[in-house]
Amino acid sequence: MNGLWQKMAEDLQKCEKCGLCKTRTQAVWGVGNPETKVLFIGEAPGKNEDEQGEPFVGRSGQLLDKMLQVVGLDRKKNIYITNIVKCRPPENRDPHPEESAACIEHLREQTRLLAPKIIVCLGRISATRIIDPNFKVTRQHGQFIEKGGILMMGTFHPAALLRNPNQKPAAMEDLLALRDKIREVCPEVYEL
Ligand code: URA
Repeated sequence: MNGLWQKMAEDLQKCEKCGLCKTRTQAVWGVGNPETKVLFIGEAPGKNEDEQGEPFVGRSGQLLDKMLQVVGLDRKKNIYITNIVKCRPPENRDPHPEESAACIEHLREQTRLLAPKIIVCLGRISATRIIDPNFKVTRQHGQFIEKGGILMMGTFHPAALLRNPNQKPAAMEDLLALRDKIREVCPEVYEL
C-alpha cells in the first residue's frame, strides 16, 4: 500500500481537474500514518498549507494538534489528516462545488486504500460533503453515524474555534467521544 499511496501523492501534483491548479504552489495530499483507521477531513489548504505542502499547519492546525494531544492522537503517529479539496482556493474563499466535485475522487482513492473505521469531518464544508448535505455543525457535532460501514462524526473546524473560543469545550467533548469510539472499534490505533 505504501508504494501505491506514494505514487498517488506524487500523481496529485500533476492534477489539472479544476482551475485551482493554476494558482496553487502545490497540491496537498495529506499528512499522517496511512496505517491508521482514523481519518480527519478538513476543507481545503490555506496559504501556509499551500506553501508547506501539509494540511493544517497554520494557527488552526496548532490548535488542532493541541486538542488532539489531549486525547492521545498525533498526526505524526496514529491518525491521517487530509482535505476535501487538495489545492488552495484563492483568497481562502470556500471551494466551489465544482472544485469539490472534481477533487472528491482523490479523497475516494485515499479512503479506499486507508479503509478507515472512523472519519472525523472538520467543519461544515467537510461534514456537508461527506456526512449529510444538511449537516448543521452546531446541532449535530459529536454524533456518530454509520455510512457504508464507516463511523462518521462532524465537529467544529479549528478556525471556527479560533473565532469562537466559547465553542472549544464542546469541541473537546467531541474529541473525548472520539477517544471512546476508537477504544471501542479500533483500539489498535492507540498502539501505533
Ligand atoms: N483549513 C482546512 O480546512 N484545511 C487545512 O489544511 C488548513 C486549514
